[in-house]
Amino acid sequence: ASYNIFLLPGDGIGPEVTAEVEKVAHVISGAGLAKFEFEKGLVGGSAYDAHGQAISEADMARAQAADAVLLAAVGGPKWADVPYEVRPEAGLLRLRKDLGLFANLRPALCYRALAEASSLKRELVEGLDIMIVRELTGGVYFGEPKEITNLPNGQKRAVDTQVYETYEIERIAAVAFEMARKRGNKVTSSEKNNVMKSGVLWKEVVTDVHKKSYPDVQLEHMLADALGMQLVRYPKQFDVIVTDNLFGDLLSDVASMLTGSLGMLPSASLGAADASGKRKAMYEPVHGSAPDIAGKGIANPIAMIGSFGMALRYSFGLIEAADLIEKAISDVLAAGLRTADIKGDATSSVSTSAMGDAIANALKKA
Ligand code: NAI
Ligand code: MG
Repeated sequence: ASYNIFLLPGDGIGPEVTAEVEKVAHVISGAGLAKFEFEKGLVGGSAYDAHGQAISEADMARAQAADAVLLAAVGGPKWADVPYEVRPEAGLLRLRKDLGLFANLRPALCYRALAEASSLKRELVEGLDIMIVRELTGGVYFGEPKEITNLPNGQKRAVDTQVYETYEIERIAAVAFEMARKRGNKVTSSEKNNVMKSGVLWKEVVTDVHKKSYPDVQLEHMLADALGMQLVRYPKQFDVIVTDNLFGDLLSDVASMLTGSLGMLPSASLGAADASGKRKAMYEPVHGSAPDIAGKGIANPIAMIGSFGMALRYSFGLIEAADLIEKAISDVLAAGLRTADIKGDATSSVSTSAMGDAIANALKKA
């Protein structure tokens, strides 16, 4: 099959790391596993420089039409003073909103060769592979009322409101169960039903979705505070974790530190499924545009290549190819190759393009 990928290199190290994705895609095409067509657009500061918008209408239309969007990163000091509506981040927000990306997927993956870089003991994280599915468009960050009012006694009163409706929980639960089927077949759903009504509904709806459509997947429920504790105590017990916007924000940041460098972590954001089960999707590294190292050719391309791997796995169903990419990354790290950010005690480090070449070569041999 042939897949149309809309590539948005963005700013800073973006163009450097996306160039390495094209090498990896080339090997997969060459092996006859799938064909990829890359169409390139502009987002963020580079789009502002070209036409005064953080993303153009033409590029938004291409993003809507693509099988998947692959974005590197936006922003940098060069655009610190551009008007608020056209600041680099506005391009990202527009993409998330218009594509309806309500599910944020953040894997915490720990390559064996890098286990010593983790904040935890090696045996706790070596080979760790968790996926956190965070609800991204609802909950307490968006619920109304949201305000600060003055009280008659001179004090103030601040209100944020946690709101979830059945359909919002149903669709995020479905994403989590579908992920689990392509991974370890287990979902841990997390809320605080002991103190929150939204937690009561969350647990009820996830249980219903499970019974109705995914009885083959193992489901457990865990209170969010207990989950935070377990994530640090024994993270390998988890496969897919599904939780709301607020808890997901906190828990995914905790999980990311289980695994080492920012330059290693991919992510995905998914939208609603259409009649054929296809979802709008955008894949991007967790890291930013790293202006401090941009243009030096030393950025780590692994988070970006891993994001492409997630697109293969979760948008295109190319599980075998996605596994091969992960294995190639793992092999290259095991052979001792390091970019500067993950150098640790190694005696030398390699460039962005040398790391990309090595991963592409390892893939060719697999
Ligand atoms: P950052 O993630 O760009 O950089 C933080 C540190 O990690 C820097 O020292 C950087 O050199 C290093 N780093 C990041 N990615 C790396 C990689 N692939 N290889 C090697 N080292 C890497 O975060 P920072 O510095 O807070 O933000 C820089 C710019 O990026 C800002 O304009 C910010 O708004 C933007 N940003 C954009 C994001 C996005 O597009 N999704 C996400 C986060 C920040
Ligand atoms: Mg956060």
